[in-house]
Amino acid sequence: MPGVVAFISAKDVPGQNRRLWFNNPEELFAEEEVICVGQIIGATVAETREQAKRAAEQVAINYQDIQPIFFTIEEAIEHQSFFDPKRKLERGNVEEAFEKVDHILEGELYMGGQEHFYMETQGLIAIPKGEASEMELFVASQHAAYTQEVVGITLGIDSNKITCHVKRLGGGFGGKVMKIASLSAIAATAAYKTGRAVRCVLERGDDMLITSGRSPFLGKYKVGYMNDGTILAADITYYSNGGCTLDESSFIMEKALLHMDNGYKIPHLRGRGLVCKTYLPSYTAFRGFGGPQGLTIIESVLHEVAVKCGLPTHQVRDINLYKDEKCYTHHKQLFSPHDMVRCWNECLEKSDYTHRCLSIEQFNAHNHWKKRGISIVPLKFGIGFSKGFYNQGAALVNIYKDGSVLISHGGTEMGQGINTKAIQIASRILKVPMSSIHIKETCTGNVPNAAPSAASFGTDAVGMAVKNGCEKLMRRLEPLIKKHTQYTWQQLVVEAYCQKISLSATGFFMGPHTSVDWEKSKGSAYYYFTFGACCSEVEIDCLTGDHKNIRTDIVMDVGRSINPALDVGQVEGGFAQGIGLYTIEELNFSPEGVLLTRGPSQYKIPALCDIPPQLNVHLLSNAENPHAIYSSKGIGEPPVFFGCTLFFAIKEAIAAARRERGLSDSFPFSSPATAEKIRMACEDCFTRMVGVNKST
Ligand code: MTE
Repeated sequence: MPGVVAFISAKDVPGQNRRLWFNNPEELFAEEEVICVGQIIGATVAETREQAKRAAEQVAINYQDIQPIFFTIEEAIEHQSFFDPKRKLERGNVEEAFEKVDHILEGELYMGGQEHFYMETQGLIAIPKGEASEMELFVASQHAAYTQEVVGITLGIDSNKITCHVKRLGGGFGGKVMKIASLSAIAATAAYKTGRAVRCVLERGDDMLITSGRSPFLGKYKVGYMNDGTILAADITYYSNGGCTLDESSFIMEKALLHMDNGYKIPHLRGRGLVCKTYLPSYTAFRGFGGPQGLTIIESVLHEVAVKCGLPTHQVRDINLYKDEKCYTHHKQLFSPHDMVRCWNECLEKSDYTHRCLSIEQFNAHNHWKKRGISIVPLKFGIGFSKGFYNQGAALVNIYKDGSVLISHGGTEMGQGINTKAIQIASRILKVPMSSIHIKETCTGNVPNAAPSAASFGTDAVGMAVKNGCEKLMRRLEPLIKKHTQYTWQQLVVEAYCQKISLSATGFFMGPHTSVDWEKSKGSAYYYFTFGACCSEVEIDCLTGDHKNIRTDIVMDVGRSINPALDVGQVEGGFAQGIGLYTIEELNFSPEGVLLTRGPSQYKIPALCDIPPQLNVHLLSNAENPHAIYSSKGIGEPPVFFGCTLFFAIKEAIAAARRERGLSDSFPFSSPATAEKIRMACEDCFTRMVGVNKST
C-alpha cells in the first residue's frame, strides 16, 4: 500500500514480547489468544497517519470464540474468575461482635469505572540513534524509568542505551504509568526494525478502548450497629473488575482495603478484596488508586445505618469518628486524627450545615417535583507507596557559571505543579530568584531509576531530593560566602569554579519504609495521612432526573502549604474529577464486550455547568506535618473522593421524594448517579410504566 513502511507484530520483537510488572506479564502483541476487544495485535508503520490507519483497516483476522466469555463483576463471581493474590484485613472479632449488636444490615454498593480523559492522549516518538543500538524516546510517561526498562527488555538492549525524555504530560491522572510503557515498546520495536523515527499518538477513541481506566468496584457488606448508630462490626467484601490482565489491580485493591475504615473507629472490621478477571481491556491506575472506592463503600455503610436508625447521617458519622489523640487504623498504624476532626468541625461550621439542613427541609416541604439533599463526609487518605521501596526521590542540581541553575528530578510534571514547587524549594535554599532556576525535562539519563510520579508522593519525594542537592551545593559554597560577603551570586559561582569546586550535586531522599504484612493484617502502610472534610448540597428534578450542584465546602489539611494556589487548584481539580466519577461519567459496553463510549460525544466529563456555583475551598490553618518537605502534605489524589458528597446528597434528595410518595427511603442506588438512575429512583406512575429500577 502507498506510504506503508512496515507491519509489526510479535515475531518482530527482538527481545521479549511482554511487559512485566511485579512478575505479572502482559503481552505487547497478542500471540495465540486475544483476550479482550482492544488488545493490540500488530502495528502498521507508514509515512503518514492516514496511510497507517488505512493499512490497519486492511488487516483481516479470523477469530475462534473463547468460551465462556464474560465482562462484569457478577459474571466473574459466578465463574469464580479471580486474580491472585486475594487480600484480607481484619481487626477485632467480627463474628463475636455481630452477636452483641442491636441490628444487622446487609447491602451492597456498585461503583462504576472512569476514563482518564487526559487532555492529551497517550503518545511518544522513538528515535533510533544509529549507533550502538541507542534509542531515544520522547514520551508522555509518569514513570520514565519503567518505560526505559520495558523498552530495553523488548529490544534486548541494556537500559544504559535507552533514554526517555519527558517534558510534561498533557494530564496523566495515573493513566500514563503502565500502558504507555507497552506503547513505547511497540513504537520502539517499529523504530528498531525500520531504522527510522516512529511517532505513535493514540486517537481518543483508541486511547479509551486500549488503555482503559479506573476499575469498577462492588462492595458487599454486613454491618452490625446499635440503636444510636454506633457501628460495632462490619464485614465487607470488595470486588473489582481488573479486566483481562492484572496490571496494577492488586495494588489498587490493597489501597481500597487500606482505606476501608476512612475516619471511623469501627472496632471489629474485616475487609476481603478480590480482583475479578474478565474479558475487558485491563483496568489500571487512576487518581486515588482504589482509595475512593474503598472509602465510598464504607461511607455507604454509614449512610445506610443512619437511614435505618432514622438519624441524621452527619450524626452517625460523627459518633463513629476516630477522636482519641492517638488512634490505630484497622491495619494497626498509629496516627492522630486531631486534624481530621478539626477539618470535620470546621466544615460543619463553614458550610453552615445545621442551618442549611433546616432550609432544605423547608424547601422539600414546599416542592413536590424538585428536592434538595445535603451530605458531609470526613477524609483520611494515606500518602506514599505502601510498597516501601518506591518511597524515594532523586534530583540533580547544576549551577552554571552565569549563576543560572538547572534542576533535573525524577518526577514528572503533569499539571500538579511539581516543577513549580521544586523551583520554589531550590530558590529558598540557594537564595536565588525563581527566575534563575530552570527545569528542562525529566530524563532517565540525568536521574536514573526514579519512582513513578504517583501515590501523591511525587512532590514530597522530589522536593526532599532537590532540597538535599541544593544543601550539598550550599555547603560547598559556604566558605566562599563567608569570605566574600560582598560578592553577588554570580561572582560567588565563578569564584567556586576557579577554585575547582564542583557546581553539580545529586540529591537523594530515602523515604520511609512502609509495608503491610497481609497475613497478620498489620503494617504502617503510609508515610502519613492527608485529612479533609467536604459538604455538598444538590437539587434534583424528580421528573427529568437532572440535578444541580448548588454548593460545596471543602476543608483540607495540606499541612503548611508550599504553594497554596497550586494546592487549592489540586483540591478543585480533584473534586471536579470526583464530580465526573460519582455523577456523570459512565462507561458502556456492548453485550460482546466492545466499549461503546469512545469519545466526548458518548462519554461525558464534567463541564463548567457541573461545578457548584459556590465552591469554597479552605486550607486548614495551623496544620503541621513533621514528615514531609517544609511541613507540607501530598494533595494530588485525596480530593477526588469528595465527589461522593454529591452522590450521597442526591441519595438524600431522592429519599425525600420517595418519602413524600409513601416509598421506603432505603433503595438500591449505584454510582455514578446519572440522570437515568435518579429519575428511576424517584419512583412514580411514569417509572412504573417503564419497569423496575435496575441498578447496574
Ligand atoms: N493534576 C493535574 N493537573 N494533572 C494530573 O495528571 N495527576 C494526579 C494529581 N494531580 C494529575 C494532577 C495524580 S494521579 C497524582 S498521583 C498526583 O497529582 C501526583 O502529584 P505529586 O507529584 O505531587 O505526587
